[in-house]
Amino acid sequence: MNTSFWIHHFQTNAAVHDQLLFEEPSSLPESIREPLVHSLAIFQLGESGGGTRLRRYAREVAPLENFRGYQRAIDLFVCEEQAHARLLGRLVDHLKGSLLQKQWTNSIFRRLRFLVNLEFAIQVLLTAELVAEVYYGSLYLRVPDAAVKAACRQILRDEMKHLEFQRQFLAERVATFTPVGRYLWRCQFQVIHALTTRVVAWDHRQCLKALGMSFSGFVQRCRESQERFQARLDERVQNLDAAPSAFEVAEPGRSKVQVPR
Ligand SMILES: [Fe+2]
Ligand SMILES: [Fe+2]
Repeated sequence: MNTSFWIHHFQTNAAVHDQLLFEEPSSLPESIREPLVHSLAIFQLGESGGGTRLRRYAREVAPLENFRGYQRAIDLFVCEEQAHARLLGRLVDHLKGSLLQKQWTNSIFRRLRFLVNLEFAIQVLLTAELVAEVYYGSLYLRVPDAAVKAACRQILRDEMKHLEFQRQFLAERVATFTPVGRYLWRCQFQVIHALTTRVVAWDHRQCLKALGMSFSGFVQRCRESQERFQARLDERVQNLDAAPSAFEVAEPGRSKVQVPR
């Protein structure tokens, strides 16, 4: 995994969020503002958090050669998510809403994330980011407000990069699984993603309705997003499978030495 690319990316991207200013007062009709600001407050809560356990899990892979620098990249990734929380907090304030301290879907999501191991934590995080891609993209297209568009465009840009960051990590890990392990991993990812999208679509139904999106339309777009991600993940795993020379070092006169991925 090219962790130095990600460290550089997160470092150079760090300043943009706090520079986004919301100067024009919002003129959104109340029928949109009220459900929208509640929905944004839920996402704001989801973006916040110290990432303590994620950082701890990242230490597990730190000794592996191909994850050198991953811990630093995760630290910067967590900082970027916290920048999203600050940005959304300012947006909620701009739209005259209130921030939330606790919310049931967010609590379930946080507990679920740390049930198993690092791969699972990243996978649950990834599931949320795949849903977020559709959510912020829909808001960007459908909410007639400059501040909402500016914030969603920036977060969407970042989340697209996060998807690539998680894809590179998972590809390295999935490539070490047996064919049966890969199949099972794929099945459980699809099931968890499908359940999550339905819970999110139901939880944010008032906002989606105010923006003219149906429950099934949102779920369908999320499914397409997951399928695109899975196809790119499969492609990357195949590339890793097809490049054994990167993981096997042959020295003249000696048998090949396996280098851990
Ligand atoms: Fe985020
Ligand atoms: Fe993210």
